[in-house]
Amino acid sequence: MQKGKFITIDGVEGAGKSTQIDFICQYLADKGVNVVLTREPGGTAIGEKIRTLLLSNSTGEMHADTELMLMFAARNEHIQSKIIPALAQGNWILSDRFTDASYAYQGGGRGLDVARIAQLEDWVLRAFTPDMTLLLDVSVDIGMKRVESRGKKDRIEQEDFDFFNRVREAYITRSKQHPERIKLINAMQTIAYTQQQIKVILDLL
Ligand code: TMP
Repeated sequence: MQKGKFITIDGVEGAGKSTQIDFICQYLADKGVNVVLTREPGGTAIGEKIRTLLLSNSTGEMHADTELMLMFAARNEHIQSKIIPALAQGNWILSDRFTDASYAYQGGGRGLDVARIAQLEDWVLRAFTPDMTLLLDVSVDIGMKRVESRGKKDRIEQEDFDFFNRVREAYITRSKQHPERIKLINAMQTIAYTQQQIKVILDLL
């Protein structure tokens, strides 16, 4: 039986996830909650190998369905061998990205049929879903500038402006479809303003 809380954080590239993840871990630690930090694709030994395959530039072209199924293969390993056991022990989990990213990137970005993604989600996750999702929203302009300033881009970061615009729109659509779970956060102002919004949401948990 699940005892801990499962929180996910998502958003387009360059939304400032890393900065806010540090803040969330510290904020919850100050409240006496220890959080297990993990990420997707990845989070397990097998998942990290799949991540390398998915994001490495040396992988080259990949069919969009293959990409989707690899995301879910990594996710299955993540859920079964890490997330569910940790929750059962009463730990809280914070995952840097989760299933919403598949709807945004493979659904919105790659244009895959959302109904097929939902079938995979149903097959792999059944009714398992995060308790809360923090969706950091930035314009594609702002996000891409931050990615450019980091240097070398991975296989997915190489995509163009229109791709990331579709990703962003798909995230926003999902937040409207799941307003109770997915909290849309304006991450286009100061870091302090983003943190203020996150605090209000975490205090609800
Ligand atoms: P990041 O977590 O360092 O941002 O990199 C993960 C990349 O993988 C990012 O470009 C988003 C992408 N991704 C998908 O396309 N689909 C997914 O389901 C997940 C979890 C990530």
